[in-house]
Order: sequence, then C-alpha cells, then structure tokens
Amino acid sequence: MAGGPSRRATLGGLATAAISSSANAQLGTGGRVMPTVLITGANRGLGLEFVRQYQARKYKIIATARKPSEATELLALAKADKNISVEALDVTDLAAIDALAAKLKGVPIDILLNNAGVIGKPLEEVFGSIPYSHFDDVMNTNVRGPLKMCEAFVEHVAASQQRKFAVVTSVEGSVASQKSGARYFYKSSKAALNMAMRNVMFAVKDRGILVAMVCPGGTDTDMIRQLKMNMKFRDPRDAVRDMIGLIDAVTPERSGVSYNYDGTVMPW
Ligand SMILES: NC(=O)c1ccc[n+]([C@@H]2O[C@H](COP(=O)([O-])OP(=O)(O)OC[C@H]3O[C@@H](n4cnc5c(N)ncnc54)[C@H](OP(=O)(O)O)[C@@H]3O)[C@@H](O)[C@H]2O)c1
Repeated sequence: MAGGPSRRATLGGLATAAISSSANAQLGTGGRVMPTVLITGANRGLGLEFVRQYQARKYKIIATARKPSEATELLALAKADKNISVEALDVTDLAAIDALAAKLKGVPIDILLNNAGVIGKPLEEVFGSIPYSHFDDVMNTNVRGPLKMCEAFVEHVAASQQRKFAVVTSVEGSVASQKSGARYFYKSSKAALNMAMRNVMFAVKDRGILVAMVCPGGTDTDMIRQLKMNMKFRDPRDAVRDMIGLIDAVTPERSGVSYNYDGTVMPW
C-alpha cells in the first residue's frame, strides 16, 4: 500500500482518536520511540504554537528560526525540554537548507512542517502602483523554501514512521475563493505553493510519503495584524490544534489536497 506497512487506513475526519493513534503508532516494544517533527519559523506565531502542541504530544522537535539568539520564548521552551532542539534556518537560503539536511543526516523526521511564511507589504499592493521590491522575498519564502525543504529532507522523512511533508497554506491561495483584488504577492505565492506541493505529492508517493496541505483560517498573529482589519481572528491555539488534526488525518487519498481548518477541501 502506498502508505507503507505502518500507514493508518483512510480516516474519514478529524477525530481525536485519529490524533492520538498517530502518535501511538511510534510505540516500540523496547520502549517509547518518540516521533520527530521539524518546524520552520518556530520562533513566533503559529510556528511557536506548533512547538508547544507537539511538545504536549510528546514529539521530539527540531525547531528552526532565522535568528535563534532572538527567539526568547522558543529558547525558554528548549531550555526546559531536552526533546526540543533549536536550529538556525532561513528558508530562502538554499545552501543553508542543504547544510541543515547534512547536519541531520540519518535522523528520521516524521513530519517536515513547512510553516515559515511572509506576507510582504500587503497594504501597499494597490493595482496601478504595486511596489515589486517584496515580490522575490514572498515567493522565495513561501514557495521556493518549502519546495527545497522537501527535496533536501526527503531521505529523513522517508526513513521515519509517519513519512509526512506538511505545509501551511491559505485560502488566499485558492483561486476560486477570491472575491477581491488585493495581496497579489501573498495570494499568488500560496497558489504556487499548492501547485508545487501537488506535484511533490506525485513525486514522493511511491516512497510512502504523504503531503498534508493545511490552512489555519484567519488567525491572530503578527502576519494578520499587518492587514489592520477591524475584526476578530482565530486563537492560534485553536488554529494549530485543527491543523495538527488535519496533518494526522492525511492518507493517500487526502495527500496533495488542500484542507481548510474545518476539514473542508479548498477549491484550487
Ligand atoms: N495568520 C494567519 O491568519 C494565516 C492564515 C493562513 C496561512 N498562514 C500561514 O501560516 C504560516 C505562519 O504564519 P504566522 O501567521 O504564524 O505569521 P508570523 O507570526 O508573521 O510568523 C511568521 C514566521 O515565519 C518566519 N519566517 C519568515 N521568513 C522566514 C524565512 N525566510 N526563513 C525562516 N523563517 C521565516 C518568521 O520568522 P522571523 O521572526 O525571523 O521573521 C516567523 O517565525 C505562514 O506560512 C502563513 O502564510 C497564516
């Protein structure tokens, strides 16, 4: 079967049972083998909350940040828990991605969680006077970074029990869902990310690797605060809980399909 011998059978939804079973699949007879998750952009926002929730689920965590020395909250978590390690990584730096993959050679990674992302300067993107200075950064961070991460870490993930690539995508990348002209770079980057990961899904399925594409919904982080919208957004704790449920629930049938936080499939 495409998922390999330890892959769970198709899951219909996001039941809590599915969440705990997935972690328990790592139990070995000689003691508990902890699953490992690598998280990019783990120093704040959703990435930091992923660290907290995977810690609570007894994962080993490789938390990456552009500037670990400034990642106060992450460092405090790592100091108190030997199962959290912090690595420096800028996902726009292709050589740095290769270097980290080489440093971690032989370490199985159950979930490669591509969370890091940028939105650029969305309020300045007014049609007719769009400033293009942020375009490369948005695309390199949101599209090229996750794609290169999957290439660089494919052996680590293939050697693990769960074998999952995960990306934090957005309904903003769903072409059919757009109702207004705005955020040209960010929306384009998430649509491109979806396309890239859909293709990665085909490239890795024979190795038993699944691709989870998950959207948190509009969530209260630094990113969304940049939009200066006067509305209430989701609590990061709820958003991450939902995304972890979706990552747990990925199956060969759900691989390479993007899901909103509530479990609905997002149209391309
Ligand atoms: N919040 C939402 O409503 C929402 C909705 C849909 C999808 N998302 C997605 O969720 C993910 C996390 O966003 P967030 O809301 O948590 O935003 P955030 O609070 O702004 O955090 C973004 C994270 O990405 C990191 N990052 C940015 N550029 C990077 C780079 N080149 N290399 C490595 N790390 C980099 C940041 O690190 P620094 O501290 O070094 O800048 C930070 O840790 C993103 O992919 C975003 O597109 C968010």
